[in-house]
Amino acid sequence: MLDKRNELNAWDRDHFFHPSTHMGMHARGETPTRVIAGAEGVHITDTNGRKSLDAFAGLYCVNVGYGRQKIADAIAEQAKNLAYYHAYVGHGTEASITLSKMIIDRAPTGMSRVYFGLSGSDANETNIKLIWYYNNILGRPEKKKIISRWRGYHGSGVMTGSLTGLELFHNAFDLPRAPILHTEAPYFFRRADRSMDEEQFAQYCADKLEELILAEGPETVAAFIGEPILGTGGIVPPPKSYWQKIQAVLDKYDVLLVADEVITGFGRLGTMFGSDHYGMKPDLITIAKGLTSAYAPLSGSIVSDKMWQVLVQGSDQLGAIGHGWTYSAHPICAAAGIANLELIDELGIVANAGSTGAYFRSELAKAVGDHKHVGDVRGDGLMAAVELVEDKDDRKFFDPAKKIGPQVAAALLERGVIGRAMPQGDILGFAPPLCLTREEADTVVKAAADAIKSVFSKL
Ligand SMILES: Cc1ncc(COP(=O)(O)O)c(C=O)c1O
Repeated sequence: MLDKRNELNAWDRDHFFHPSTHMGMHARGETPTRVIAGAEGVHITDTNGRKSLDAFAGLYCVNVGYGRQKIADAIAEQAKNLAYYHAYVGHGTEASITLSKMIIDRAPTGMSRVYFGLSGSDANETNIKLIWYYNNILGRPEKKKIISRWRGYHGSGVMTGSLTGLELFHNAFDLPRAPILHTEAPYFFRRADRSMDEEQFAQYCADKLEELILAEGPETVAAFIGEPILGTGGIVPPPKSYWQKIQAVLDKYDVLLVADEVITGFGRLGTMFGSDHYGMKPDLITIAKGLTSAYAPLSGSIVSDKMWQVLVQGSDQLGAIGHGWTYSAHPICAAAGIANLELIDELGIVANAGSTGAYFRSELAKAVGDHKHVGDVRGDGLMAAVELVEDKDDRKFFDPAKKIGPQVAAALLERGVIGRAMPQGDILGFAPPLCLTREEADTVVKAAADAIKSVFSKL
């Protein structure tokens, strides 16, 4: 076993190009490699036999938890009966058609069709193309700009990486590309003018959006994209009236809304969709992660009836839509999706995300909120973040070179719990599987409090 482990380590350093990894340090062996061997419930185990409570559900995606026999069986059954057939020119499978119906049954009102992809990034690429197509068919070819928010995360492709508003994802990639624009993030804790209350700040964000639309010309602005709650940008819930105020601006200038629900879709906020949770009225919804709880790669663009009618006019004018992936609506992934959605209902985990989420966040705030380097404890449903600051009263942030966030995440891991050092700021993030129990929540809270204490006692 040891030989095999050493061999895997060597192959990993020499051949595996890891995503979102410091390439040089990893190849030189300066950062630890962790080979995951198995998982059950909310725990993962590595090849050294070390078990960790995964309080980030992989990448906020394993909503039902690990090791669910029902999904494994559905995948195996589908692979035996029909591993693949494409979905071009009207082809379908029982699994892909059934899953479309199940998604629309659960989606906010006004949604009509699902276009399947494999990742959140490709689903947002689809959305961008559908927005452009829509405006071309409506005879307004100049209405093409898409506004995203700084700190939004929408993927890593050329256009979706452009939508993403995080420097790390732009640096040296010549991104962002036109016609993508960015506006203010609804990040109350980091607002420039600290005299603003939440309501004033929500209005300020809506005013900034309106200013941008007017400066660009409303006839050139096609859509606005946002995650209901900012995810990778720092796990930041919006100020209370933010979405109502944003929606009013979008309606005024006939700008479409894309709700990127890759994280929030299928229960994370204690409702099936984040759009319902915050009263958003999207024209397109991006889904991925929780759709299969990551048991198989599957994403989707949910298209509203309003947009669908125009897309239909498009193919009546131009012929079949020139957009397709070989693996769109892959039957094995669709079978995983059906079993997963059934399990979400059977286990009642959407309600659990709401109730255990509220318990977890309140215990976390009690345990760490008074620490002199904890500036903010926030979240919604089963998403939470602890933002660490050098000086609480002055809201002074640490020099990023000190890597306080990664140090706290490492200390947390030493205590058997996985959290995530979010990429921009010293922010410790949590997004555990939605089946988390109160006892497991207590374990995460205790480990977080100990980790924070231990890192700052050494500084
Ligand atoms: C809100 C959001 N949109 C899109 C994506 C991109 O999804 P993927 O990594 O599957 O391409 C992510 C990934 O974390 C995400 O959080």
